[in-house]
Parts: sequence; structure tokens; C-alpha cells
Amino acid sequence: MRSSALLVVQALFSVFTVITAQRNAKDKPRNVLLILADDGGFEIGAYGNKICQTPNLDALAKNSLIFNKAFTSVSSCSPSRSALLTGMPSHQNGMYGLHQAENHFDSFSDITSLPKILKEHGIRTGIIGKKHVGPESVYPFDFAVTEENNSILQVGRNITHIKLLAREFLNNATEPFFLYIAFHDPHRCGHTNPEFGEFCQHFGNGDTGMGLIPDWQPIYYQPDEIQLPYYIPDTWAAREDVAAQYTTVSRLDQGVGLILQELKDSRHSDDTLVIYSSDNGIPFPNGRTNLYDSGIAEPMFISSPLHKERRGQVTNSLTSLLDIVPTLLDWYDIKHEDFSKTNLVESRALTGKSLLPLLIKEPDDTSSEAVFASHNLHEVTMYYPMRMIRTHRYKLIHNINYNSPFPIDQDFYLSPTFQDILNRTKNNQNTFWFKTLKEYYKRPEWELFDLKHDPEELNNIVKKNSSREIFEELKVKLLKWQNDTNDPWICSPHAVFENKGLFKLNPQCLDLDNVW
Ligand SMILES: *[C@@H]1O[C@H](CO)[C@@H](O)[C@H](O)[C@H]1NC(C)=O
Ligand SMILES: *[C@@H]1O[C@H](CO)[C@@H](O)[C@H](O)[C@H]1NC(C)=O
Ligand SMILES: *[C@@H]1O[C@H](CO)[C@@H](O)[C@H](O)[C@H]1NC(C)=O
Ligand SMILES: *[C@@H]1O[C@H](CO)[C@@H](O)[C@H](O)[C@H]1NC(C)=O
Ligand SMILES: *[C@@H]1O[C@H](CO)[C@@H](O)[C@H](O)[C@H]1NC(C)=O
Ligand SMILES: *[C@@H]1O[C@H](CO)[C@@H](O)[C@H](O)[C@H]1NC(C)=O
Repeated sequence: MRSSALLVVQALFSVFTVITAQRNAKDKPRNVLLILADDGGFEIGAYGNKICQTPNLDALAKNSLIFNKAFTSVSSCSPSRSALLTGMPSHQNGMYGLHQAENHFDSFSDITSLPKILKEHGIRTGIIGKKHVGPESVYPFDFAVTEENNSILQVGRNITHIKLLAREFLNNATEPFFLYIAFHDPHRCGHTNPEFGEFCQHFGNGDTGMGLIPDWQPIYYQPDEIQLPYYIPDTWAAREDVAAQYTTVSRLDQGVGLILQELKDSRHSDDTLVIYSSDNGIPFPNGRTNLYDSGIAEPMFISSPLHKERRGQVTNSLTSLLDIVPTLLDWYDIKHEDFSKTNLVESRALTGKSLLPLLIKEPDDTSSEAVFASHNLHEVTMYYPMRMIRTHRYKLIHNINYNSPFPIDQDFYLSPTFQDILNRTKNNQNTFWFKTLKEYYKRPEWELFDLKHDPEELNNIVKKNSSREIFEELKVKLLKWQNDTNDPWICSPHAVFENKGLFKLNPQCLDLDNVW
């Protein structure tokens, strides 16, 4: 009798505790502001660039944990954005390549995305700028001002326009919220709007025919003063290209400053997690569309009003953009099961991890950390599937379509830097590049790099006897990740994956005898 009465009291008490805890959690809204650059890299003071002026990003970095080893899971716009919003690599969410026009890629219709799950949990969602993912049913935002119904220049590069849209969203009384600001800066624009310059660096600068962006103070850079990364050739064409990119990065930086001021003015600085990153590598040779570090390493700052322990510090923990979904679920206190349950396919589980613990403390042992990547296409003509695992010391890339030349996209092809490399190569002149165009096009099936001794990834050690053990170890881990993420390419290119009929319960890779 007595013990059961006690149990009842205890049960009542714990129900009461749960309700109180829930109410407290509810009373205190937890919001998120996710800021994404388009093809943005490390042209930021906080990352050691002394020339490109980015005072606003530097100030954000001071209030953030600065990620030194953050990587995208794919170096291509739509696939990266889909992975960012679903927590699943492109082969798992279905966005194999670019979304727009003839490229026509979409995520699978049953996929759960951040905007979808947050909406279900009563969180108001907004996107301003470049969306570039679909279908709408998978990525539904309550407030959407994107390229789908607007000029991408206005919603992605006009920082005054973007500021006013952010104000409209933030001034709405309903909370909690998730606001995703996807700048189109510092993407190239020579391919679509050559009248504004290679990086749209003249758009809105007040010159005749360029219009005016009232909040923008353009900063111009001299080609001979820029800081060249090792993977860009030291030629005048490339230097002018980078100088134009810096001007656009500085516009992005001023845009970030305006948005953070809006957040402050709407009195949400104290309840909003702010994340800054970029979708893929910069649009230069060896950058975007590559799985070399120059293509996948991303800037990342996370500033939390509730985690002040490591502000201004640097983390070297290996981080993936696939970690953003688990991080936001953790922040909003939404269970992973709630996230996955709407997926019809059971195996579409998340492989990322919440980054919130990192905001408090660096892990004691990071030796077993690894990040993964999966690339299939950029433009529809650019079929070049690659899979990758990167640890602190090594990187293994599997070039599945290794007999084909590495493809070049329309936008990058027209860039002065690439045209210069191409012209010089054709004319047998020195390209001043760190590899030849032929080496760039022609890649072996497996590339293994010892990043400690070869950070530029020039010396493929896969055939060395001494590499055999690490090669096998990384291959096993990569295959496990491919299996965990339901990769249709898991047996490619030397076997066929059979998983239906007789093989339904025991999927197999059946040999093709096609190695020559
Ligand atoms: C905006 O564009 C999308 C995609 O093209 C379309 O589905 C939607 O109906 C449009 N919305 C408005 C308000 O025009
Ligand atoms: C403001 O919130 C209301 C109610 O949730 C919604 O109907 C409206 O579209 C929102 N406006 C903006 C700009 O988000
Ligand atoms: C940028 O947006 C502002 C505010 O909407 C507008 O006044 C201005 O003309 C726009 N600038 C350009 C270059 O389109
Ligand atoms: C490359 O060559 C083409 C054709 O000869 C020429 O139009 C272009 O200006 C050259 N580009 C560079 C960067 O030298
Ligand atoms: C590498 O291993 C192969 C096969 O075991 C052997 O024949 C060869 O001599 C080794 N090479 C070196 C440089 O040790
Ligand atoms: C692949 O995953 C399935 C579960 O989805 C598991 O049963 C199987 O053992 C895994 N195979 C490998 C090689 O990891």
C-alpha cells in the first residue's frame, strides 16, 4: 500500500517536473540564424587573410567557435545545400547534381528536411536568397524570398534589399524561428551577367548603368596585393580574378554586418544561434567540384548565446556540413526519431553529430575522427562520381569514372583564370600552376594522400607498399559509410549491385571482370 502510494506520488511528481521543464523550454524561444556564402572560402581576416577586408565576419568569429577543419560533403551548390538541409549526402537524399534548368535534379519526395521538421514543431521558417533545391514539398519555408520568384541579384547580392527582407521576417512576433540567409555573393557572374564584372563586383556600385546599393561601401583591391592560395596560378589574369572576388567578398561581409545588426535590433541576439559557412570551394582550379581540400574545406563560425566557453577559440575537430541538421535538432530539442520517422526508407538515418558539445570543450581524443564526401554530378553533363574519406592525417578519393576526363563547368570554363591556363597549355607556355591541365583531367581510380607531408595533395601514395595497410583501412571505412547511407554506387565501377529478387535479403556486389 505505502509503496504504491509513494510510486503514485513519485509518478505525479515526475509528470509535474516534465511539464514544468517543457514549459520552461517553451517560454524561452531558441532561434537559429544560418548564413551561407555562395562559393565563399577563406578570404576572411579571421582565417589569416590580411588583404581582404571582412571586419563583420571577423567580429562574428570573435563571438564564435572558429572551425579550422570543417568540410562540405560535396563540392557543388545544390547537392551541398540539400545535404546541409537534410543531413544526408547527395546520393542519399537524391539531389545528384544542380537543381536549375536542364540539370533538373531534385531530392526524393519522401525526404525529411530541416524546414519541414521545424514547421511540424511550430518553428517559423524563412529563407532569403538562393534556394537552389527542390522539390517545394521537401523544402517548404513559411517565408521564402528566393530566386524562384525574384531576381537573384536583388535577393542574393543587394545587401540593402536583403537587410529589409530580414527585418520583415524578424519583426514578426512569432517565435521560435529558423532564418536561413543564403547570399549569392561571392559567386562568379561573368557567365550570366558579364556586364557587372567577373564576380558582379560592379553591381550596385553607383557607376553609370550599375545601380546603387545604398548600404554598400565598395572596396577595391590591387591584383598585385592579393594573397594567392597555392592552387591558383600566379599570373596577372588570375590575380585580377581574385581581386574582383575580394570586392564581392567584402560586399558579403557588409551584408553579414547588416543582418547581425537586424538581429540585435529585433532583440534576438540573446536567443539565437548564429552559424556562418559556405556551400563549396571557391570557383578556381582545384576548387569547386573537387574533393581535394581546396574544393571541400569550408569556413565555419558558430556563435551561441548559451555557450560562451570557447568564444574566439579554434577547434580542429573534423566537422562536416552533414553535422548541421543534428546540431539544429539538438538546439531545438527535437529527437532524431522524429526527424527520420517521416522517411519511408528506413535506412535514411543521419550519420552526422551535434556540434553543440564542441562549443563547450574540445574532445579528448580526436584520432578516430573522419569526414566523408560523395559527388556525382555538377551540371548534368558532368557525370563524375567520387567518394572520399578524410581523417586528420590521410585522404582517400575513389574516382569511380576514372577513365573519363575530369569535367569543367560552364561558369568556371569562361573564367579568366581557367582561360589563361587553357591558352598557356595549348601554346606550350608555362602555366605557373602547381599541376598540369592533363594531370587535372586525368585521374587514377584511387588517390591517397598523406596530408601531414603533402597538404597540397600532389603525391598519390596509393601504389606504395608502405601504404597498403592504410589504404585497406580507409577503404573499409569508406565502404561502411556508403553502406550506412544507402549508396547506389557502392559496388561501382567493377561490380554490379544486386539487391532485389534473390538478393533481397542478402545484397551483393557481383564482379564485372572489367579491370584493365
Ligand atoms: C515561386 O516559385 C515557385 C517555383 O518556381 C513556385 O512553385 C511558386 O508557386 C512561386 N510562388 C509565387 C508566390 O509565385
Ligand atoms: C508573420 O507571421 C504570421 C503568422 O504566423 C504569418 O502569417 C506571416 O506570413 C508572417 N510574415 C512574415 C514576413 O514572416
Ligand atoms: C537595392 O535595393 C534597394 C532597396 O530595395 C533599392 O533601393 C536599390 O535600387 C537596389 N539596388 C540595385 C542595384 O538594384
Ligand atoms: C585565350 O584565348 C582566346 C582565344 O584565342 C582569347 O579570346 C582569350 O582572350 C584568351 N584568354 C586569356 C585569358 O588569355
Ligand atoms: C612491394 O611489394 C611487392 C609485392 O609484395 C614486392 O614484390 C616488391 O618488391 C615490394 N617493393 C618494395 C619497394 O618494397
Ligand atoms: C550494410 O548495411 C546493412 C544494414 O543496412 C547490414 O546488414 C550489412 O551488414 C552492411 N554491410 C556492410 C558491408 O557493412
